[in-house]
Amino acid sequence: MSSTVAKDRRADRSPLEHPTAEQDSPAPTPRTAGEGDHGRGDHPRASPHETRPAYGDDPPAVDADVSGAVRVVLGDLLDRQVAAAEAVDPLFAADLAAPVARFTRNGGKFARSRFVWWALRACGGAEPAQARAALRIGAALELIQTCALVHDDVMDGARLRRGRPALHVELADQYAGSCGAQRAGRLGEAAAILAGDLALAWADDVVADTEMPGRTARRVRELWRAMRTEMVAGQYLDVQGEATSARSMARAIRAACLKSALYSVERPLALGAALADAGPSATRALCSAGRCVGLAFQLRDDLLDAFGDPRDTGKPAGGDIRSGKPTYLAAVAQARAETSGDRRALDVLRGTLGRTDASAGELAAVREVFTATGARETVEGKIGRLVAQGLRHLDTAVLEPEATRRLQLLMRSASGVADTVASDVVPLSLQLATGDEGAGR
Ligand code: IPE
Ligand code: MG
Ligand code: MG
Ligand code: MG
Repeated sequence: MSSTVAKDRRADRSPLEHPTAEQDSPAPTPRTAGEGDHGRGDHPRASPHETRPAYGDDPPAVDADVSGAVRVVLGDLLDRQVAAAEAVDPLFAADLAAPVARFTRNGGKFARSRFVWWALRACGGAEPAQARAALRIGAALELIQTCALVHDDVMDGARLRRGRPALHVELADQYAGSCGAQRAGRLGEAAAILAGDLALAWADDVVADTEMPGRTARRVRELWRAMRTEMVAGQYLDVQGEATSARSMARAIRAACLKSALYSVERPLALGAALADAGPSATRALCSAGRCVGLAFQLRDDLLDAFGDPRDTGKPAGGDIRSGKPTYLAAVAQARAETSGDRRALDVLRGTLGRTDASAGELAAVREVFTATGARETVEGKIGRLVAQGLRHLDTAVLEPEATRRLQLLMRSASGVADTVASDVVPLSLQLATGDEGAGR
């Protein structure tokens, strides 16, 4: 890839302005992570955090199969962590480490790591070392995603994830026969808290052990730290809003930004830019685009929760209605009903939002209010505008054209915006090469 990207070497600070908010008898001393071969003969001298060069040596090869490259790097890291966990304790490895690895491996669409990759490439990153680092940071983001989702399903009381029992449910089911449903339920939730912690620790390990030039390492660490805190802040706003029925539009947007837009899109793009040592103009363009598209991504997630089919989303339908989640969709519906004095709509919202035992008919009535008040259409329109605005931000900097087209495609698919425009500008073969598509997590 020829470097048409203007790099401003003065950019040694992130331009982002976000709130940077025993056992009774001792077991045999476990081998330190990295010591020995962890029972595997295939990586004799490597530490558990090192990754064999794969596609990373050849950025154009990664371009052809970004998900595949991430899968190789991630698979290698996970194999090593599970082997290290086995050396610590076999039960811990079987009940926690292996499920964390499986969840991450069978993950979603690797959207976050693909955002890192295409941002790197859009900013002209073409060195094998940059590519290796980008794949590792991408893998770390997939681990953060595991942490986020495993914890999220406990907090949201969601029993289904990616079309399978949520991790806490899986663990509870595994123990229900031997310790009874109630104890097993408690165990499942406790185990999921630990599993999420483990995923986060592994993610941090990957970042800490990624080789990068000093200044890049500083920027990456700064972004990483900010991102973790933002996500926790957003999740708190979410559950606190649920409990207190704080349902303003401004608050919903703020929570969506913090709990999702930043770690799902904006920060991954910023990380890719940092790894490419991009200048302020390219970094700003990517971050602004990421903020818009990331928000669109969460608004789509909210629409899918209300109106999507669990066979497509792999998540329960109407979970947000039952938990009284303070989504933008619900906030708009409520504001519209208040403005027009629609007492029937207000009664439906007040009577059903937050009722975990809401019947299918009551859920349908809330959906009807979301539609009749125009809230559904408003959110759909906002998603379209946000994506269009995000794509326009990409035009404000000099970026590599091919990688930028791939980013545009990814942004559209992540936010579930029809591909009609994308198909005008991108050949079908390229669209198909972008991997599993579709909105949602
Ligand atoms: C979760 O938001 C955001 C994070 C995991 C940080 P949601 O609760 O809306 O996500 P889903 O709908 O369960 O995937
Ligand atoms: Mg959830
Ligand atoms: Mg949630
Ligand atoms: Mg959701």
